[in-house]
Amino acid sequence: MVFTGAGVSAESGLGTFRGSDGLWDKYRIEDVCTHEAWLNNPQLCVDFYNIRRKEALAAQPNEAHKAIAELQQAFPNTQIITQNIDDLHERAGAQNVVHLHGELTKLRSENDDLATVPLKGWEQHYGDRHPDGSLLRPYVVFFGEAVPYFSVACEIAAKAELFIVVGTSLNVYPAASLLQYVPKNTPTYLIDPAEVSIHLTDHIKHIQEPATKGVRELVDALKKSL
Ligand code: APR
Repeated sequence: MVFTGAGVSAESGLGTFRGSDGLWDKYRIEDVCTHEAWLNNPQLCVDFYNIRRKEALAAQPNEAHKAIAELQQAFPNTQIITQNIDDLHERAGAQNVVHLHGELTKLRSENDDLATVPLKGWEQHYGDRHPDGSLLRPYVVFFGEAVPYFSVACEIAAKAELFIVVGTSLNVYPAASLLQYVPKNTPTYLIDPAEVSIHLTDHIKHIQEPATKGVRELVDALKKSL
Protein backbone atom coordinates (compact mmCIF):
# COMPACT_ATOMS: atom_id res chain seq x y z
CA MET A 1 0.00 0.00 0.00
CA VAL A 2 1.21 3.47 -0.91
CA PHE A 3 -0.22 6.43 1.00
CA THR A 4 0.60 9.88 -0.34
CA GLY A 5 0.19 13.51 0.61
CA ALA A 6 0.99 16.89 -0.87
CA GLY A 7 4.76 16.24 -0.71
CA VAL A 8 4.57 13.72 -3.57
CA SER A 9 3.41 16.52 -5.88
CA ALA A 10 5.71 19.22 -4.47
CA GLU A 11 8.40 18.59 -7.08
CA SER A 12 5.75 18.93 -9.79
CA GLY A 13 5.35 22.50 -8.60
CA LEU A 14 2.17 22.08 -6.52
CA GLY A 15 2.45 23.69 -3.10
CA THR A 16 2.11 21.74 0.13
CA PHE A 17 -0.30 22.95 2.82
CA ARG A 18 1.80 23.29 5.96
CA GLY A 19 5.25 24.60 6.73
CA SER A 20 6.78 27.84 5.53
CA ASP A 21 5.21 29.07 2.30
CA GLY A 22 2.47 26.42 2.57
CA LEU A 23 -1.01 27.11 1.15
CA TRP A 24 -2.46 27.49 4.64
CA ASP A 25 -0.05 30.38 5.20
CA LYS A 26 -1.62 32.23 2.29
CA TYR A 27 -5.28 31.33 2.85
CA ARG A 28 -7.33 30.74 5.98
CA ILE A 29 -8.86 27.26 6.10
CA GLU A 30 -12.07 28.74 7.50
CA ASP A 31 -12.40 31.02 4.44
CA VAL A 32 -12.11 28.37 1.72
CA CYS A 33 -12.23 24.83 3.08
CA THR A 34 -15.13 24.39 5.51
CA HIS A 35 -18.85 23.90 4.99
CA GLU A 36 -19.42 27.32 6.65
CA ALA A 37 -17.04 28.90 4.11
CA TRP A 38 -19.08 27.35 1.32
CA LEU A 39 -22.32 28.73 2.80
CA ASN A 40 -20.90 32.19 3.57
CA ASN A 41 -18.75 32.85 0.52
CA PRO A 42 -19.09 30.12 -2.10
CA GLN A 43 -17.47 32.25 -4.80
CA LEU A 44 -14.26 32.41 -2.74
CA CYS A 45 -14.25 28.59 -2.39
CA VAL A 46 -14.86 28.19 -6.11
CA ASP A 47 -12.08 30.66 -6.93
CA PHE A 48 -9.66 28.89 -4.56
CA TYR A 49 -10.25 25.47 -6.16
CA ASN A 50 -10.25 26.96 -9.66
CA ILE A 51 -6.69 28.12 -8.99
CA ARG A 52 -5.75 24.68 -7.62
CA ARG A 53 -7.24 23.10 -10.77
CA LYS A 54 -5.42 25.48 -13.10
CA GLU A 55 -2.12 24.71 -11.35
CA ALA A 56 -2.74 20.95 -11.39
CA LEU A 57 -3.56 21.00 -15.11
CA ALA A 58 -0.31 22.82 -15.81
CA ALA A 59 1.74 20.41 -13.66
CA GLN A 60 3.29 17.16 -14.85
CA PRO A 61 3.70 13.90 -12.92
CA ASN A 62 7.18 13.65 -11.47
CA GLU A 63 9.57 10.73 -10.99
CA ALA A 64 7.84 9.74 -7.73
CA HIS A 65 4.39 9.46 -9.34
CA LYS A 66 5.99 7.48 -12.18
CA ALA A 67 7.85 5.15 -9.82
CA ILE A 68 4.65 4.48 -7.83
CA ALA A 69 2.82 3.60 -11.05
CA GLU A 70 5.70 1.26 -11.99
CA LEU A 71 5.51 -0.37 -8.56
CA GLN A 72 1.84 -1.10 -9.21
CA GLN A 73 2.68 -2.61 -12.59
CA ALA A 74 5.37 -4.82 -11.03
CA PHE A 75 3.19 -5.75 -8.01
CA PRO A 76 -0.41 -5.59 -9.29
CA ASN A 77 -1.88 -5.81 -5.79
CA THR A 78 -0.42 -2.41 -4.94
CA GLN A 79 -3.13 -0.06 -3.70
CA ILE A 80 -2.60 3.69 -3.83
CA ILE A 81 -4.39 5.93 -1.39
CA THR A 82 -3.85 9.65 -1.64
CA GLN A 83 -4.92 12.72 0.27
CA ASN A 84 -4.24 14.75 -2.87
CA ILE A 85 -6.96 16.18 -5.05
CA ASP A 86 -4.69 16.42 -8.10
CA ASP A 87 -4.66 13.63 -10.70
CA LEU A 88 -0.89 13.26 -11.08
CA HIS A 89 -0.91 9.61 -9.91
CA GLU A 90 -3.41 8.74 -12.63
CA ARG A 91 -1.55 10.77 -15.25
CA ALA A 92 1.60 8.80 -14.38
CA GLY A 93 -0.32 5.58 -15.12
CA ALA A 94 -1.56 4.50 -11.67
CA GLN A 95 -4.86 2.61 -11.48
CA ASN A 96 -7.71 2.60 -8.96
CA VAL A 97 -6.31 5.43 -6.85
CA VAL A 98 -8.43 6.11 -3.76
CA HIS A 99 -8.73 9.88 -3.24
CA LEU A 100 -9.58 10.41 0.40
CA HIS A 101 -10.10 14.17 0.11
CA GLY A 102 -11.77 14.44 -3.30
CA GLU A 103 -10.70 15.17 -6.86
CA LEU A 104 -10.24 18.39 -8.79
CA THR A 105 -11.40 16.77 -12.03
CA LYS A 106 -14.91 16.36 -10.63
CA LEU A 107 -17.61 18.48 -9.02
CA ARG A 108 -20.23 17.15 -6.65
CA SER A 109 -23.83 17.73 -5.72
CA GLU A 110 -24.36 19.91 -2.66
CA ASN A 111 -26.78 17.26 -1.39
CA ASP A 112 -24.81 14.08 -1.89
CA ASP A 113 -21.10 13.73 -1.19
CA LEU A 114 -20.57 10.96 -3.76
CA ALA A 115 -22.80 12.29 -6.57
CA THR A 116 -20.03 13.61 -8.79
CA VAL A 117 -19.87 14.88 -12.34
CA PRO A 118 -16.71 15.25 -14.41
CA LEU A 119 -15.35 18.74 -15.00
CA LYS A 120 -13.32 19.48 -18.11
CA GLY A 121 -10.74 22.24 -17.87
CA TRP A 122 -9.98 24.34 -14.82
CA GLU A 123 -13.01 26.51 -14.34
CA GLN A 124 -16.04 25.84 -12.21
CA HIS A 125 -18.75 28.49 -12.73
CA TYR A 126 -20.55 29.11 -9.48
CA GLY A 127 -24.28 28.60 -9.92
CA ASP A 128 -24.11 25.57 -12.21
CA ARG A 129 -26.31 22.75 -11.01
CA HIS A 130 -26.06 18.98 -10.62
CA PRO A 131 -28.65 16.86 -12.48
CA ASP A 132 -30.28 16.35 -9.05
CA GLY A 133 -31.11 20.10 -9.02
CA SER A 134 -28.71 21.12 -6.27
CA LEU A 135 -25.80 23.52 -6.65
CA LEU A 136 -22.53 22.02 -7.77
CA ARG A 137 -19.61 22.48 -5.40
CA PRO A 138 -15.97 21.43 -5.58
CA TYR A 139 -15.57 17.67 -5.01
CA VAL A 140 -13.40 18.24 -1.98
CA VAL A 141 -13.82 16.98 1.57
CA PHE A 142 -13.88 20.18 3.61
CA PHE A 143 -12.51 20.28 7.15
CA GLY A 144 -15.13 18.92 9.53
CA GLU A 145 -16.82 16.76 6.87
CA ALA A 146 -16.91 12.97 6.81
CA VAL A 147 -14.33 11.20 4.63
CA PRO A 148 -16.48 8.85 2.53
CA TYR A 149 -13.67 6.52 1.45
CA PHE A 150 -11.99 6.26 4.82
CA SER A 151 -13.44 2.81 5.60
CA VAL A 152 -12.27 1.53 2.19
CA ALA A 153 -8.79 2.86 2.99
CA CYS A 154 -8.86 1.16 6.41
CA GLU A 155 -9.71 -2.19 4.83
CA ILE A 156 -6.79 -1.81 2.44
CA ALA A 157 -4.44 -0.75 5.27
CA ALA A 158 -5.47 -3.75 7.37
CA LYS A 159 -4.21 -6.08 4.60
CA ALA A 160 -0.97 -4.23 3.86
CA GLU A 161 2.16 -6.36 3.56
CA LEU A 162 4.33 -3.33 2.84
CA PHE A 163 3.37 0.23 3.62
CA ILE A 164 4.96 3.23 1.91
CA VAL A 165 4.05 6.73 3.09
CA VAL A 166 5.15 9.64 0.92
CA GLY A 167 5.06 13.37 1.61
CA THR A 168 2.46 13.83 4.29
CA SER A 169 2.80 15.66 7.60
CA LEU A 170 0.23 13.23 9.08
CA ASN A 171 -1.54 16.17 10.67
CA VAL A 172 -5.03 15.66 9.27
CA TYR A 173 -7.40 13.07 10.70
CA PRO A 174 -8.86 10.62 10.07
CA ALA A 175 -6.41 10.13 7.16
CA ALA A 176 -3.36 10.19 9.44
CA SER A 177 -4.80 7.41 11.60
CA LEU A 178 -4.56 4.96 8.67
CA LEU A 179 -1.16 3.95 10.03
CA GLN A 180 -2.89 2.46 13.05
CA TYR A 181 -4.82 0.05 10.82
CA VAL A 182 -1.70 -1.45 9.29
CA PRO A 183 -0.84 -4.84 10.87
CA LYS A 184 1.93 -4.64 13.47
CA ASN A 185 5.42 -5.37 12.15
CA THR A 186 4.46 -4.56 8.54
CA PRO A 187 7.58 -3.09 6.94
CA THR A 188 6.85 0.63 6.67
CA TYR A 189 8.80 3.38 4.89
CA LEU A 190 8.17 7.08 5.42
CA ILE A 191 9.62 9.15 2.57
CA ASP A 192 9.86 12.81 3.54
CA PRO A 193 12.79 15.26 3.46
CA ALA A 194 11.65 16.72 6.81
CA GLU A 195 11.71 15.18 10.28
CA VAL A 196 8.75 12.87 10.91
CA SER A 197 6.60 12.75 14.01
CA ILE A 198 6.23 8.95 14.00
CA HIS A 199 8.24 6.80 16.40
CA LEU A 200 10.74 4.86 14.26
CA THR A 201 11.31 1.16 14.97
CA ASP A 202 12.97 -1.80 13.24
CA HIS A 203 9.86 -2.01 11.05
CA ILE A 204 9.28 1.71 10.49
CA LYS A 205 12.05 3.46 8.60
CA HIS A 206 12.40 7.08 7.56
CA ILE A 207 13.93 7.73 4.15
CA GLN A 208 14.81 11.38 4.57
CA GLU A 209 14.82 12.36 0.91
CA PRO A 210 12.59 14.25 -1.50
CA ALA A 211 9.98 11.98 -3.10
CA THR A 212 11.58 11.90 -6.56
CA LYS A 213 14.78 10.42 -5.11
CA GLY A 214 13.44 8.42 -2.16
CA VAL A 215 10.54 6.76 -3.97
CA ARG A 216 12.55 6.03 -7.10
CA GLU A 217 15.31 4.30 -5.12
CA LEU A 218 12.88 2.28 -2.99
CA VAL A 219 10.82 1.18 -6.01
CA ASP A 220 13.93 0.19 -7.95
CA ALA A 221 15.11 -1.89 -4.97
CA LEU A 222 11.69 -3.56 -4.63
CA LYS A 223 11.55 -4.35 -8.35
CA LYS A 224 15.01 -5.92 -8.15
CA SER A 225 13.74 -8.23 -5.40
CA LEU A 226 11.20 -9.77 -7.84
N1 APR B 1 9.07 14.98 -1.21
C1 APR B 1 8.43 14.36 -0.18
N2 APR B 1 7.82 15.03 0.83
C2 APR B 1 7.88 16.38 0.79
C3 APR B 1 8.53 17.09 -0.23
C4 APR B 1 9.14 16.34 -1.27
N3 APR B 1 9.79 16.92 -2.30
N4 APR B 1 8.39 18.41 0.02
C5 APR B 1 7.69 18.52 1.17
N5 APR B 1 7.38 17.31 1.64
C6 APR B 1 6.65 16.92 2.85
C7 APR B 1 6.69 17.93 3.97
O1 APR B 1 7.89 17.79 4.73
C8 APR B 1 5.45 17.54 4.78
O2 APR B 1 5.72 16.52 5.71
O3 APR B 1 5.28 16.79 2.51
C9 APR B 1 4.51 16.98 3.69
C10 APR B 1 3.35 17.88 3.34
O4 APR B 1 2.52 18.02 4.45
P1 APR B 1 1.17 18.88 4.36
O5 APR B 1 1.44 20.18 3.68
O6 APR B 1 0.58 18.93 5.72
O7 APR B 1 0.28 18.02 3.35
P2 APR B 1 -0.62 16.75 3.66
O8 APR B 1 -0.07 15.93 4.76
O9 APR B 1 -0.88 16.08 2.36
O10 APR B 1 -1.95 17.44 4.16
C11 APR B 1 -3.07 16.63 4.44
O11 APR B 1 -4.37 18.60 4.75
O12 APR B 1 -5.23 20.68 4.22
C12 APR B 1 -5.37 19.35 4.09
O13 APR B 1 -6.81 18.37 2.61
C13 APR B 1 -5.50 18.85 2.69
O14 APR B 1 -5.02 16.62 1.90
C14 APR B 1 -4.52 17.71 2.64
C15 APR B 1 -4.33 17.36 4.10
